Formats: sequence, C-alpha cells, structure tokens
Amino acid sequence: MLHEMGLSPLWRLRPQPSPRVSPPAGEVAAEPDRDPQTVGEAAAPAPPTVVPVVPVVPLQAMAGNRLEEIAGMGWAQLRTSVADCRSCGLCQGRRQAVLGVGDPGADWLFIGEGPGAEEDARGEPFVGPAGKLLDAMLAAIDLRRGDDVYIANAVKCRPPNNRTPEAAEIAACAPYLRRQIALLQPRLIVLLGRAAAHALLGEVGSLASLRGRSFDYPAPAGGDSIPVIVSYHPAYLLRTLPDKARAWEDLCRARSLMRAAKAAALACGATTNDPTPR
Ligand code: URA
Repeated sequence: MLHEMGLSPLWRLRPQPSPRVSPPAGEVAAEPDRDPQTVGEAAAPAPPTVVPVVPVVPLQAMAGNRLEEIAGMGWAQLRTSVADCRSCGLCQGRRQAVLGVGDPGADWLFIGEGPGAEEDARGEPFVGPAGKLLDAMLAAIDLRRGDDVYIANAVKCRPPNNRTPEAAEIAACAPYLRRQIALLQPRLIVLLGRAAAHALLGEVGSLASLRGRSFDYPAPAGGDSIPVIVSYHPAYLLRTLPDKARAWEDLCRARSLMRAAKAAALACGATTNDPTPR
C-alpha cells in the first residue's frame, strides 16, 4: 500500500509520542523544514496547536428555516434534500449530487473538496484516480472505506471542469456538511486540501500553515469537541510526489490522535464503535 502511495522503500512507523498539550490558541507552531525523504524516520511531529473552529460560513446567506430544517434532518431526509438542492449554481451542471459514503457509525471522517467527473457519474465520493490514492492512504493505516470510515466532500455537486468550489458554493453546502458531522459524531476529522479546510475552518491560509496543527470542531450535541487536522488533497499528491511523505506524516499523526481519543473514551467508560486500536 505504501508503494501505491509512492512511499517505497518501506516506511516504518516509529512509536508515536502521545499528543502534547498545545500552546495557547493563536500561537502557530512553525512547520518544521523537513526533508520529505526522511519523514517517518523523523522523531516527533510538531506540537499540535489546538484552535477552536469559528463557524465563519455566512449563515445569513440561507433562509433561516432552511438552516433549521437541515439541522433537524436524519440521513434519509438529508440524502433527498441534497439530491434536490438548488441553493447554488453547481446544481445546474451535476448529473447527481454526491452526499458521501461510508459507515454511519464511523470514528473517522475524511472530507475532500467536491465530486469530479467519475464521482458525479457514480454518485460516490473519491472513486476516480484521487480516490484510488485515498484508498491506498487509508489502507496504509489499516483503514478501509466503509469500515469505521466515512468520506464526504465540502460541496456535494461537481464544479464545472473540476474547478475549485467558490466560497459561496462552499457556504451554500456547509449546512449539509455540518449536519453530516452532527449525525456521524466522528472521533476525528481529516480535512483533505484547502477547500475542505475552508468549509470547516473558514477562510484559511496556506495548507502548509494548517498542517501539523489540531483544530477543535465544536461538539454538535454539546459533548466533547472533535479534533480536526488538515492534510494534502490526494489529487494534489498525485501531481506532487515529494509531498506524499508529508501526507504519510499527517496520517501517522491522525492515527495517534485517534488512538488517544479511543483510549480516553475507554478510560471514561464510553463505548467505542470499534475498540480495536487502529
Ligand atoms: N476529489 C474530491 O475532493 N472529492 C471527490 O469526491 C473526488 C475527487
């Protein structure tokens, strides 16, 4: 699988340090200047900075009752509502809307940008070349699409010519993404690329400035907040091979965060969907 990711010879996972207490919000841990060829051999990842997520999506762009309706939907209603949605211009070019795919009880939520041509045709996220790489990335940390993993996108309809979705399109779709998160209540969210980061974290800087940090997504039902990390989009990685090593570093960090979250939940006596420490 690592070969599929372009990460051969074999990368060995060293014991991961437990997540450290973060510096105060606002203090950004500088991204270490690492040689991608040595990532995985490197000692400790940069100390995560935990930053609360401020919902910056302009909610007033939606009619108030639409927001409330979406916030109260179950999966079946959400699927129908997304399929019929005409809240932005992307609906005009779609064959079908692509809500997401996976285990509704998943601990892991991966969020990409938006459907491409193959996803638009098949109605499932990440089924084209970027999806094949995402599957290989999941396998590299012993995960499988649909098994404790849910995959969604910032926007549910294909942008024309696969362009990056515009801010207004991301804002129009954000209530759906937020409802998905509320229904899933994952233990960890991995944002793949800038559009996904924009959708959840608001206007954001460069991807390099977001990697290596941890963000907090406010718990939908007033429980614990959900840790969020940012990594590269698989389509970018297909074009930029050296950064695959950094993506591997992000996956290792994600895996340690998940292990810590599951251990904390077990210590509190909470149930976990899958106690296997993956
Ligand atoms: N790229 C994405 O961001 N999402 C998909 O579903 C496919 C490609």
